Amino acid sequence: MKIVVTGGAGFIGSNFVIHMVKKYPEHQIINLDLLTYAGNLENLTEVENAPNYKFIRGDIADRKFVFDLFEKEKPDIIVNFAAESHVDRSIEDPESFVRTNVMGTTTLLDACKEYGIKRFHQVSTDEVYGDLPLDRPDLFFTEETPLHTSSPYSSSKASADLFVMAYHRTFGIPVTISRCSNNYGPYQFPEKLIPLIISRALADEELPVYGTGENVRDWLHVSDHCVAIDLILEKGRVGEVYNIGGHNERTNLEVVKTILKALGKPESLIRFVKDRPGHDRRYAIDPTKIETELGWEPQYVFDTGMKQTIQWYLDNKEWWEHIINGEYTSYFEKMYGERL
Ligand code: NAD
Ligand code: TYD
Repeated sequence: MKIVVTGGAGFIGSNFVIHMVKKYPEHQIINLDLLTYAGNLENLTEVENAPNYKFIRGDIADRKFVFDLFEKEKPDIIVNFAAESHVDRSIEDPESFVRTNVMGTTTLLDACKEYGIKRFHQVSTDEVYGDLPLDRPDLFFTEETPLHTSSPYSSSKASADLFVMAYHRTFGIPVTISRCSNNYGPYQFPEKLIPLIISRALADEELPVYGTGENVRDWLHVSDHCVAIDLILEKGRVGEVYNIGGHNERTNLEVVKTILKALGKPESLIRFVKDRPGHDRRYAIDPTKIETELGWEPQYVFDTGMKQTIQWYLDNKEWWEHIINGEYTSYFEKMYGERL
């Protein structure tokens, strides 16, 4: 099997590539990534010399590039992680989200239509369901919850999901979609809440908490997400959506205080700042379908997962320091420059 993983140099994509390269030596894993600011080949040093791994730099929204790639590689499976993924950036620049998240996805789907594919898996997000009220802890997102987006990011992801389903119904492309809650773990770009707070707290810098810090996110360890996608590829029913989440709801303030406690830093570093416009209040996944149908269950509980993750950021200071000082962008030239 030849599996093209798009966005494999990002946070979740790189964890997924490492998982697949190690677990399936008989499969060829091609990592297709544009290396935007969020793509970092330093995430993949563990597998970069593996015989079943290859990196190709390219843009999923570049039709010629994508069609040439399909012509040459004839992939069996596409797993589409490539996206602009940060809500705050989508508020500043919605168009780049439309380009990559919507047009990039339809470009890949067109290539699947032209060349054929055994499976197209779209990595989506629970944010397509909008948000839940804070005073109704009994409510959860199921696969039947209507799409009701808040941010340009979630709107672009919901739009992509609709195209994926349309290509399934209209052209018979064998698709699956997963909608996961917020991920945490190694290699998360330090613009997102958890790595941002860890890196800033270690430098004794102020920690920006939006609004009152009462918004709730449902946290899942990235490796539980990767295992779930692997399982959907293996056993998931074509044309279906699977929600992924592990019932680990925490307010943002709880998350920040957990990190401060683990690092032995004072809560006085917390600084409440102006709220994010349109800030979603609560996300919470009902994972019954993937649990009962595919037998998936998360391996991490939040407290141990967070302890390990904080330790990982302590042990891999160089990794995030390279990002903060911009050195990671030269890694591609250093590693691949003479090979191009
Ligand atoms: P990320 O921002 O860390 O990584 C995105 C990757 O996509 C980067 O390597 C980037 O270089 C690449 N990319 C961007 N534009 C591209 C293009 N035009 N062509 C090719 N590559 C391109 O994102 P992430 O947090 O790892 O999220 C990955 C996927 O999972 C996204 O689709 C996101 O919507 C989804 N998701 C994320 C979370 C989360 O908590 N982070 C939760 C649920 C779903
Ligand atoms: P984020 O990691 O950006 O993920 P998402 O918005 O996709 O859920 O943010 C997680 C939560 O943390 C979200 O409610 C916004 C909040 N947040 C802060 O309070 N301060 C910050 O500096 C950031 C980046 C996020």
